[in-house]
Amino acid sequence: SRRGVAILGIFVADLAFRAGRMPAVGETIAGSGFKMGPGGKGSNQAVAAARAGASVTFLSKIGKDAFGAVALDTWSAEGISARVTQMEDEPTGAAFIYVNETSGENAIIVVPGAAATISAADVDAAADAIREAAVFITQLEQPVAAAKRGLEIARAAGVITIFNPAPAEAFDDALYPLCDYVTPNESEAAFLTGIAVTDLDSARKAGDAFLAKGVGTALITLGEAGALLHSRAGSIHVPAVSAGPVVETAGAGDAFNGGFAAALARGADPIEAARFGCAVAGISVTRAGTAPSMPYLAEVEPLLETTRT
Ligand code: RIB
Ligand code: NA
Repeated sequence: SRRGVAILGIFVADLAFRAGRMPAVGETIAGSGFKMGPGGKGSNQAVAAARAGASVTFLSKIGKDAFGAVALDTWSAEGISARVTQMEDEPTGAAFIYVNETSGENAIIVVPGAAATISAADVDAAADAIREAAVFITQLEQPVAAAKRGLEIARAAGVITIFNPAPAEAFDDALYPLCDYVTPNESEAAFLTGIAVTDLDSARKAGDAFLAKGVGTALITLGEAGALLHSRAGSIHVPAVSAGPVVETAGAGDAFNGGFAAALARGADPIEAARFGCAVAGISVTRAGTAPSMPYLAEVEPLLETTRT
């Protein structure tokens, strides 16, 4: 029977620079910290889901270089099964991450490298891994044609499909009916629906727009306000879970998505899974880094208990 989570996405090395502000064009400023670590939305979601207890298969492409070695080490340390092609002539991707040293907020430039060449045919070659999973999730850091093929394969096999349209990019509306869940943040929801998402009311309107396009459930993440789970069956606000002072918000969306997917894969209902995702994200923002900040199940469960009162 189907089990676990299959994830199609990218790995990049996250190069995180902490500073008081962004430099202006032509300017050099001194920062207060630097860290290199594993990143990329898909790989971050894989780490979050694996630490949350799911068996995870990750589908991607990387280069044969130093950052590619970081990728392989990361997946093996996390117990993630990698169906990953190492290309000879393309580099592993990298991301520049500016982290505001006071607020923990971020700005990112991501270059996918080898993962930019992931094609629908590459996804077909890994179709068995998708069909064996209980849940399939993908994002938009690799080409949309690959995301679409993954969703088609999963849908045809009866696998629960989650589409995290991040970073926001225009795509064919034919993708929407393939999605059991679409999981944009506020700005991605606004980009995709044309509705500025500033509060729960506007999030519901954006949710309606996603439903009209054919998605099963719109799950819109709202940062400090948690998430909105919006379907024809109803609209439920799931509050954020605070686990302490915010250090770095980069990767919080991945924490949420990976946690949500892992919970669905073990049979949780969508509300419970969204709560679980909020708790995973809530812990991740209290720690530096993206993938390294993902919590383990043993940390998430007690936090959920204390917030259930
Ligand atoms: O969602 C955060 C991720 O986006 C970072 O790890 C960075 O690599 C970018 O891809
Ligand atoms: Na973090």
